[in-house]
Amino acid sequence: MFGKKKAVKYDPNTAPASLDAEEAARLAFASDQGLTSHHFVEGEHPIVRIEHLGKTFDGTTQVLRDVNLNVWPGEIVVVLGPSGSGKSTMLRCINLLETPTSGHILIEDEEITGKSISAVNKLRRDVGMVFQSFNLFPHLTAKENVMIGQTRVLKKSKAEAEKEALLQLDRVGLLDRADFKPPQLSGGQQQRVAIARAIAMHPNVLLFDEPTSALDPELVRGVLDVMRDLALNSGMTMIVVTHEMGFARDVADRVVFMEGGVVVEQGKPEKVFDHPENARTAEFLGSIE
Ligand SMILES: Nc1ncnc2c1ncn2[C@@H]1O[C@H](COP(=O)(O)OP(=O)(O)OP(=O)(O)O)[C@@H](O)[C@H]1O
Ligand SMILES: [Mg+2]
Repeated sequence: MFGKKKAVKYDPNTAPASLDAEEAARLAFASDQGLTSHHFVEGEHPIVRIEHLGKTFDGTTQVLRDVNLNVWPGEIVVVLGPSGSGKSTMLRCINLLETPTSGHILIEDEEITGKSISAVNKLRRDVGMVFQSFNLFPHLTAKENVMIGQTRVLKKSKAEAEKEALLQLDRVGLLDRADFKPPQLSGGQQQRVAIARAIAMHPNVLLFDEPTSALDPELVRGVLDVMRDLALNSGMTMIVVTHEMGFARDVADRVVFMEGGVVVEQGKPEKVFDHPENARTAEFLGSIE
């Protein structure tokens, strides 16, 4: 579509913005070999493509400088990095909770930056998010929390939404808590309800922003087990910001290290953890492992 097909080596830092989809897929296929344990094939397209993403708050605070990342369908990507490096801002840009100030984000080759509210609503169906603080409605039961997006956004009937809600609550091990309200549930249970709510929408991509950081240590395991099950058995694409290094090592196809608003290093978990190339990655991992 744009430009000629040139035999250029893909350099994510200099690649032109918003590439033609075929060209981008070809370059991503070449550049991502060896960076992920996820299997992808020639001709396949990344499900999320982030090109030169920038985000500046209030015209002055530049939080994302030049983020470049591909995520393949079904890939599990774990994002690490020190506080303030821009991890949450990147996730929030992917579902347009924040408006990017430069660059491009494409989901299934569709540009989502600079889109209208109705387009954003479609996006909200395609991209789910699980927050650190659960964000459940306290006055609704677990089941009603899982139903509400389905009836309001997907326009499902109550009966259909209820069936799906019970299915997903069962998946996260909370069928017996379906009629409990959030204040009657532990933090770990609330987070599992939030996960059930997200997967009941059948998103193509599910984003997690430190889903276990607000939990008491003994409740972390149950949430990670649910996430592990989804990662291994659902086929869903997941981008997970977490400080759970064990989860990252075991479950991630690719680990991405961010600092200062850029992706500093990325690769298979064993590579990034055991042989980091970047001094900052090594220092960060050394400080938390
Ligand atoms: N709405 C906002 N207005 C101004 N600055 C913001 C806003 N949101 C985030 N920032 C700034 O952007 C930087 C990155 O924040 P972000 O929340 O993306 O970091 P993070 O990597 O998720 O950190 P943490 O590990 O602490 O969650 C921080 O310096 C933060 O103060
Ligand atoms: Mg954050």
